[in-house]
Amino acid sequence: MPSALTFDLLAKCSQTLLTVQVTKARASTLHLPHGSVPLPIFMPVATQASLKGLTPEQLAQIGCKLCLNNTYHLGLKPGQAVLEQVGGAHRLQGWDKNILTDSGGFQMVSLLKLANVTEEGVRFLSPHDGTPMLLTPEHSISLQNSIGSDIIMQLDDVIVTTSPDRERMKQAMERSIRWLDRCIDAHKYPERQNLFCIIQGGLDLDLRRKCSVEMAARDTPGIAIGGLSGGEAKDEFCKVSVIPTSMVDTCTGLLPENKPRYIMGVGYPEDIVVSVALGADMFDCVWPTRTARFGNAITPSGTVNLRHATYADDFSPIVDGCTCICCRPIQQGGLGITRAYIYHLAAKETVGAHLLTMHNVHYLLSLMDSIRAAILEDRYPAFVRDFFNRLYGSAS
Ligand code: GUN
Ligand code: ZN
Repeated sequence: MPSALTFDLLAKCSQTLLTVQVTKARASTLHLPHGSVPLPIFMPVATQASLKGLTPEQLAQIGCKLCLNNTYHLGLKPGQAVLEQVGGAHRLQGWDKNILTDSGGFQMVSLLKLANVTEEGVRFLSPHDGTPMLLTPEHSISLQNSIGSDIIMQLDDVIVTTSPDRERMKQAMERSIRWLDRCIDAHKYPERQNLFCIIQGGLDLDLRRKCSVEMAARDTPGIAIGGLSGGEAKDEFCKVSVIPTSMVDTCTGLLPENKPRYIMGVGYPEDIVVSVALGADMFDCVWPTRTARFGNAITPSGTVNLRHATYADDFSPIVDGCTCICCRPIQQGGLGITRAYIYHLAAKETVGAHLLTMHNVHYLLSLMDSIRAAILEDRYPAFVRDFFNRLYGSAS
C-alpha cells in the first residue's frame, strides 16, 4: 500500500548479549510528514491533545518530535466536525511536529466497563451523556483522517492479555486481521497518513506467529505489537521479554527489516531497554507523565517519590547529571529546581507536577538518545549491562 514515510535503517547491533543471544537492536531514522524522528523513540502521550501541564512549546523544547493523541477522546471532544473545521489536530494544538493517534478500541476497553465488541465494531455508551455509540474500523479511520495524524492505528480487538480464554484470544486476533482489511479500504489519505497494523494474540506464541505473518502480508507502512501492556503483571512482561521465546522476540523475528516496529503501551525504562534488544523501535506510555503527577521522579536507580519527608531539606537536583530544564541550572552553578522544592510544592501547587513531568519526559527522551548512540557505536550489550547495574545495583 502507499506510504507517507521512509525508514532508513542505519545500524544493527551485531554483538551478543548475556553470552548467548545476539541482540537485534536497530538504530534508524523515520522520515514522517512533520519531520524526521530518530529511532528507537519514546512517544509521550498527549491524550486530549495536550501533555498534561505542558505547553506544546515546552514539549518541543524537551526534544519531542512525535507525540500521541487518542482518537477516542478527540472524537468525543472536540468531535469530528470541529476537527474538520480547524483542519486537524496539529492546528488544534499548535503542534507542527508529528502526531500518532491510537484508534480508540484499546481506550474504550480499558476505560469503559460497558464496552461490547462484535464483528461490526465496539459498542459503548457515551461517557458524556450515556447515548449508545458504535466505533467501527471505518469510523475510527474516518476520525483519524479528520485528525490528520502522521501515523494512524488500525482498530483492533483488544482483550486482557492474561485472559485464560484461548478461544476468545484467537477470535480477537483473527478479527483484528479482518478489521485491518476494513481499515485499509476505508483509509482516504494513504499518501499523507501512515496506517500501522497491530499484532494481537495474547501470550500465545502460535497466535502471535500467525498474526505476525498475516499482518506483515498486508504491507502497511509500519507494524505495531499490541496487547503487551496493562493486562499482565509486570513480572510476566519481564519474564517473557528477556527470554528468546518471548512475544516480542517471536513477532520481530517474523517481521520485515525495512519497517518500523512499535510496541504499544510499553514505557518502563527496563522494558524499553530489553525490547530494543529484541528489535523494537517505537514505544509509548502514560506512565512517565502520570507518575509525575503523583510526585515520582524517574532516576537511573529507579523511581523516587519526592513527597517523602526525607526530601524536605534535600537541595540537590532531581537527578545529578540530568540536563533537563529543572536539573541543569544547578549543575551549572546557578539556581534550579531542587528535590526540596518539589517536596514543598507536593500536591498543593500544580507547578510541582509540571516540573516533574518535564524531568520525566526528558529522562525518557535522553534514555532513547543514549540507546541510539550505543547501537550506532555497536556497544548495545555493554549499555544494557550498565543500565541494569545502575538500576538494580551490582558488585561488578
Ligand atoms: N495501547 C496499548 N496496547 C494497545 C493495544 O493492544 N491496542 C491498541 N489499539 N492500543 C494499545
Ligand atoms: Zn532532570
